[in-house]
Amino acid sequence: KVTVKSLYRETEKYLEKEIEVSGWVRKLRSQKNFGFLEVNDGSFFKGVQVVFDTNLENFDEISRLSISSSVIVKGKLVKSQGAGQNFEVLATNVEIFQKADLDYPLQNKRHSFEFLRTIAHLRPRTNTFAAVFRVRSVLAYAIHKFFQENGFVYTHTPIITGSDCEGAGEMFRVTTLDLNNLPKKEDGTVDASADFFGKETNLTVSGQLNGETYCSAFRNIYTFGPTFRAEQSNTSRHAAEFWMIEPEIAFADLEANMELAEDMIKFIIKYVMETCPEEMEFFNQFIEKGLFDKLNNVLENGFAKVTYTQAVEILTTCGKKFDYPVTWGIDLQSEHERYLAEEHFKKPVFVTDYPKEIKAFYMKLNPDGKTVRAMDLLAPGIGEIIGGSQREDNLEELERRMAEVDLNPEDYKFYLDLRRFGSFPHSGYGLGFERMMMYITGMTNIRDVIPFPRTPKNADF
Ligand code: 4AD
Ligand code: MG
Repeated sequence: KVTVKSLYRETEKYLEKEIEVSGWVRKLRSQKNFGFLEVNDGSFFKGVQVVFDTNLENFDEISRLSISSSVIVKGKLVKSQGAGQNFEVLATNVEIFQKADLDYPLQNKRHSFEFLRTIAHLRPRTNTFAAVFRVRSVLAYAIHKFFQENGFVYTHTPIITGSDCEGAGEMFRVTTLDLNNLPKKEDGTVDASADFFGKETNLTVSGQLNGETYCSAFRNIYTFGPTFRAEQSNTSRHAAEFWMIEPEIAFADLEANMELAEDMIKFIIKYVMETCPEEMEFFNQFIEKGLFDKLNNVLENGFAKVTYTQAVEILTTCGKKFDYPVTWGIDLQSEHERYLAEEHFKKPVFVTDYPKEIKAFYMKLNPDGKTVRAMDLLAPGIGEIIGGSQREDNLEELERRMAEVDLNPEDYKFYLDLRRFGSFPHSGYGLGFERMMMYITGMTNIRDVIPFPRTPKNADF
């Protein structure tokens, strides 16, 4: 019994040997006395060609097999005469496990990504999605490898929380209360103390606050888990459920934070390119022409850096008309981010030191009193893929900021404790895993890089 992958990687070892492969029929061509099956076993980007002929007692049955039928093939691996493959299996036995129903939706033709989203349970069987989701697995491993090899402790932060890390109010509520019969307090408002946890809870938007607490024990930590945002933005870059990687580093300022982000991005791109050559070649040919040039460029050059104030200067003097006018203080829109990364710098760029009003409460205030030690990494073609900052380590300053944005200190007591029991300079960031997937594969819609996307009005599968 062998995998198709081992046939490709160690062909010499199996040539002229009897082997058994099991999998699904992707293609079939048959003539009067012989035929070809392409069997894909899931272990590799490509399938293996199986030759069958009238020596097999079930020749007629095999000739009429439907696409996606499952089979177990025994035979000899031989050098192939045909174009397109170096080897093939001469079948001595083809056991048909199940004949697929004839209405299998993935016949051998090109399907649009929109259509394939409606059959998300079957789409990993297509070339594009087989490549996407193997790369997704390898990319996740590369991230763990990078952090583990650099001594970071993988920290599991809770999915259900009572806090709102980003303070944007974009949370999915978690409740066991009966919505048709809500317990009310005397003043008529909902009595959350009757809920499962005795208070209001929601799905986490970020593991950062909990991550920071483990940073104060282990120095360098990272999280890697699902996060949830009830953003109404129905775009190609937003999902309601997405995965985030959040490292947090102790005795480290914003510069060290940016250095870590750049090292990480380079490491994971290199690892995926080396580990998934067939899949990456496919993306380079069929999904984004010039993908390899783009990625090699990233590996070979340093990222650009500008402050928010400089970025505003660039945007207001570049002569380009934006739909959303640029003035100091605005939150940069996607058109601005893309101009900076794609047209001005032509490579990933860190934008730092944003106005405090447009950033979360926990970021360290600069001496100017107006900006905070924030950094966003903008990537050509995507926009923001990382958001991070140096954290406010001064208790009074943090309390002042929380009061300004109306956060209840009771909900953040554990977080404030970090500033009382050995406060320390620290920094961290969040990498959007799906945005990184889009960048590395060239796929242009976030719905096509996560197996079962969750977006407004869509929680199918
Ligand atoms: O910039 P964000 O909101 O930062 C945080 O959550 C911080 N707590 C991270 C930290 O400092 N530890 O989100 C981080 C990244 C974004 O840059 C983006 O790549 C991704 O998460 N992201 C999303 N990805 C897909 N769909 C969404 N709705 C996303 N919202 C953010
Ligand atoms: Mg952000």
